[in-house]
Amino acid sequence: MAQEHIHPIFDRLLQTETKETLLKQRGKVIWLIGLSGSGKSTIAEYLEAKLYDEGFLTQVLDGDNIRSGLNNNLSFSDTDRLENIRRISEVAKLFTNCGIVTLASFITPTEAIRQMAKDIIGEDKYIEVYVSTSLEACEDRDVKGLYDKARQGIIKNFTGIDSVFETPQNPAIIIPTEGFTVEESVQKLYDFIIEKISY
Ligand code: ADX
Repeated sequence: MAQEHIHPIFDRLLQTETKETLLKQRGKVIWLIGLSGSGKSTIAEYLEAKLYDEGFLTQVLDGDNIRSGLNNNLSFSDTDRLENIRRISEVAKLFTNCGIVTLASFITPTEAIRQMAKDIIGEDKYIEVYVSTSLEACEDRDVKGLYDKARQGIIKNFTGIDSVFETPQNPAIIIPTEGFTVEESVQKLYDFIIEKISY
């Protein structure tokens, strides 16, 4: 067993509360779920800028970035999507335990994968956000041209086309984007999280 000679020293490290006192903020993971092209990353980007202006220390973790680095050996199979989110959750936990407000934007396609993220991060630190843009709207926007490729069969296992996306059953908040400006969607999320991250 690989874990046999591992001796974690978490109990001897500085506590999260100590670091939160230093930063004067609460470490939370704002976990944005939604289809590719739903607006998760844009919302994270705008929210980060807004929080920075107010003196919050944040870290954005984003599908395309993480998959080109830390997780560049993972595919979009069900097993690899689970492993993708498992690693990201562990990373998010490190940031959050440091008192940092972590904005994670990943498709996170199934309830089982979301549950794993919540279990790793801890329920008190995990804020689940569903960016509820419909498949039709995502496909219409097709910012990266991936839906077109998926429809043509050039990309396989594409979420919403030939790979499952389960509607989140119990998100802390739903952020619609259709019929709203980015600023309006971000403001709604900001209003919901601001108290939770404030010291
Ligand atoms: S997740 O399902 O494992 O949570 P993740 O958020 O990391 O996905 O990555 C999604 C991004 O990868 C999409 O926004 C898109 O740009 C790209 N991508 C490439 N291939 C696929 C695919 N088969 N399914 C979904 N997204 C894909």
